[in-house]
Order: sequence, then structure tokens, then C-alpha cells
Amino acid sequence: MISNIDDVVSLMKRRGFVYPGSEIYGGVANTYDYGPMGVELLRSIRNLWWDFFVTRREDLVGIEASMISSHRVWDASGHTSGFSDAMIDCKNCQLRKRVDHLIEEYLDQHEVKELAKASYDSSIISEEIFQKVITTKKVEGLSLPQFDALIRAWSISCPSCHKFDWTPSRKFNLLFPVHLGIIEGEQSLAYLRGETAQGMFINFKNVMDTSRVKLPFGIAQTGKSFRNEITLGNSIFRTIEFDQGEIEYFFDPDKTDWKVLFEHWCSQMWTFVTKELGIKDENLRWRVHSDEERSFYSKETQDLEYNFPFGFKELWGLAYRTDYDLKQHMLHSGVDLSVFDVETGKRIIPHVIEPAVGLNRILLMILCDAYTVDTEKKRTVLKLHPKLAPVQVAVFPLVSNKPELVDKAREVHAMLKPLARTAWDARGNIGKRYLYQDEIGTPYAITVDYQTLEDETVTVRHRDTASQERVSIEKLHAYMQL
Ligand code: GAP
Repeated sequence: MISNIDDVVSLMKRRGFVYPGSEIYGGVANTYDYGPMGVELLRSIRNLWWDFFVTRREDLVGIEASMISSHRVWDASGHTSGFSDAMIDCKNCQLRKRVDHLIEEYLDQHEVKELAKASYDSSIISEEIFQKVITTKKVEGLSLPQFDALIRAWSISCPSCHKFDWTPSRKFNLLFPVHLGIIEGEQSLAYLRGETAQGMFINFKNVMDTSRVKLPFGIAQTGKSFRNEITLGNSIFRTIEFDQGEIEYFFDPDKTDWKVLFEHWCSQMWTFVTKELGIKDENLRWRVHSDEERSFYSKETQDLEYNFPFGFKELWGLAYRTDYDLKQHMLHSGVDLSVFDVETGKRIIPHVIEPAVGLNRILLMILCDAYTVDTEKKRTVLKLHPKLAPVQVAVFPLVSNKPELVDKAREVHAMLKPLARTAWDARGNIGKRYLYQDEIGTPYAITVDYQTLEDETVTVRHRDTASQERVSIEKLHAYMQL
């Protein structure tokens, strides 16, 4: 666990986990490329997630929907209209807020007399507008420069960190539009998906009709989502392109108590993070969304938060979305998405509980949690769970200029390669090779030396303790707990 995100960012770059996107062309903000180590770790997270939530359960099935979908999907979900607010970001704590909410909350907390004392930029705000704002305590219809001028007039500080360090306010929609077709004027508007969730809703009927599922059941999906985020900083915590792992769990609210189901998913998420990923309990907490913060269709939303070096932040959201999404898609598509209940003879529209996580955010959490500085041995160690380590076993010949050692080490490497994620390294002195493996989190480093040629044993070095043991080659795989 580290206190400064820069240490992890530097290690991620130095050791091939994550590079800034388009780096040789000066970079594109909020985009990242995954290197040899990062791609292995991300793949392991995705596979573990799928295994835990889909493969090991009877009541979950998976899909993989298109990343590009009709604009009508996003009209129905409310994303095309709902994400077009003027937003402002606190540069200090990354709080993002609707700028009209920020100002109106301030107006509500202050008397008109007090508000009237402010000096404002009259080239942007007329006397008439100013008077209207302070008497009605509403800012509807104002322009972005007018919002900013009001914030400056009262020095409205961030409600979260109380600093006055805002970006200019800007109107934006989080969705990325794509224009399909090559003939100008005949192109049709589509969007890169802003969440994988909608893929599950629009395929609900397909899945019901083509598989043996019955309520309650869930549809799961992992894949890329895209959001035109303006917040910068904190590495891959918030990016414009990211991998999500989402589940829409459908149920009949008359037969299944949503509170019991909600509890079940809370406990599944907690178990996954603590037991499967090995994250310490003390770095995790639940946060219940307030009424204002919660989406209007959600009855309950809770975030599982992790104590990142920049504070406790959302890792994973859990929301009871009611029947909002299926109803919206029924309305906009005209397709009946209700389910016939053979017991009651009635049709119902299922309700939904949704656990939604960012896989890249899990990756960042894992690296922050595993990052350790061993001051005694002067090394940085990534104490990754062996099943997550990008390289699980590294194999070295003691020296690279003795063919008999190199051949024997090659033999050991070939034996282990089908059984684990392995790496071969014969370059440089052995101490440096160990330090490199420590930094990428390799739990075992095996060295073939002169004794190996005599008794078929090798040295196994343990990453966390740096202790070494001799183990016979034939027992190697069983010895390592991978
Ligand atoms: N379908 C619901 C939904 O997408 P969300 O809270 O917007 O809810 C779910 O996103 C999760 O996806 C978050 O908890 C976070 O882990 C991840 N996430 C959201 N936006 C992200 C971004 N811009 N970059 C990286 N991860 C993001």
C-alpha cells in the first residue's frame, strides 16, 4: 500500500504495465496503452471476474454486445439528454458537479442581502440578470461564462474539499457520437456505448427466447465503454475508454425481496475483492448514495470504495434500477419485454439489480495495494497474489556463458511453460534479475546453477521474503502454489 500515486504511475510505466496513450505524438489526455505486464494483469482480472460471477454460478449467462449501437438505444436510456449538463470540476479533489446545482445550493444557503454585496463582472452579467438570480435563487438559462462569473463573484468553493480551484464550466455529453455510412447526408447517427449495461437490456428478449434462463437470473458482460470525460489525473482511475464488468440481475419484485438480493450482491462483491483479489478489508468501505446523488430511477445505490492514495473512491457500484430500463426500451422500441409467469398467468416487467465495476480501476487498486518498499533490502516489491502476477515463475541460468547451464535452464523453462505464466531471463547479474522480477510481482524466481547439473535441484527464490530454497526439478510445480 502506498501513499503517493506517482510511485505507482512511475512503476507502471517503467515496468510495462501502462503507458500514456499516443505518447510519441505528445499524448492524448485520459487515454492509456497497456504494455506486456499490464495486459496480462488485466486479462487475469477479467478471467477471474468471469469465472467467479458467470462460470461458477447457475443463474448467470454472458453476452458480448456491440460497442457501437443505435442512437435510439441511448435516447431510450436517457443518456443523450441526461448527460448534456454544464459541468465543473474541482482541480484539487476531482469533484465533478453540475454547475447550476453548485450555484443554486450556494444561493439557497445565503440571504439575498448578503448575496447582493458581491461585485461581479458587469460585462458578462447585467444588473437585471444579477438581481433576478439573487431573488429567484435560480440560474436556469444562463450561459457558461455567466455561470463562471457568478462562481467568481461569490468565490464559491468546492463543497467537498473547500478549495477554490475550478476548471471553467463546460457543457458536454459524455457519449461519443459515430456517423455510420460513407455518403455524407445519408450517414446515420450511432454512439460508442457509454456503459455495457444497455447491451444487456436490449438483448433481454433475445436471451430469454434463446436460452433456458428463468427469473431470477442475470446477464453479464465485460467490454469497453467510452465516455468523453473531462476530469484529468490519477492515472487510469478515470479514462475516456475503459473496461467494464457489469451484471444486470433480473427478478420479479413480487417473488424476490430486493433487499435480500441487494445484500447478496454486496456480499458477492466484497468476497470477490477480498478473497479472490486478496485486497485487505481495512482498505475497503461501503458508501450509500444520498437521495440527491442517486439517479431518479434508482431505489438504492451503494458504492464499494477503495482507499486509493488520493482517498476513498468508488471502485464498484451496486444499484437497484427497478424496471426503468426495460420499460424505457419497451416504450422506445415498441417491443414487448415483459415476461409471462406460468404460475400466476400474468405478464410482468422484471426489476433489476446491477453490480457495475471498471476492470482498469480494479487493476489500479491491485497495484496500489501490492506496492511495497522493502527499505531493509532496498527494493520495490509488488506483492501480487500469485494467480494475478503477470509472470508467475521466472527461470534463469546462473550465468549465460556456460552452455550446459543455459541448456538445463531452458529444459526447466520448457517444462514449466505449459503450467504457468513464465519468463526467461539470462541477461545481467542475478541480483538485478531478481530486482526486476520483484518489481513486476513475480512470486518465484528459479535459478539453475552448477549444483543442478549434479543433483537435479534448483534454487527457488521467494519474492516477498527474498529467501531461497533448493527444490528438486521434478517437484517444482507442486512446490509452487500457483
Ligand atoms: N451501468 C452503470 C454504470 O456504468 P458507473 O458508476 O457509471 O455505472 C460503473 O460505472 C463502474 O465503471 C464504476 O464504478 C467504475 O469502476 C467504472 N468507471 C466508470 N467510469 C469510468 C471511467 N471514466 N474510467 C474508468 N472506470 C470507470
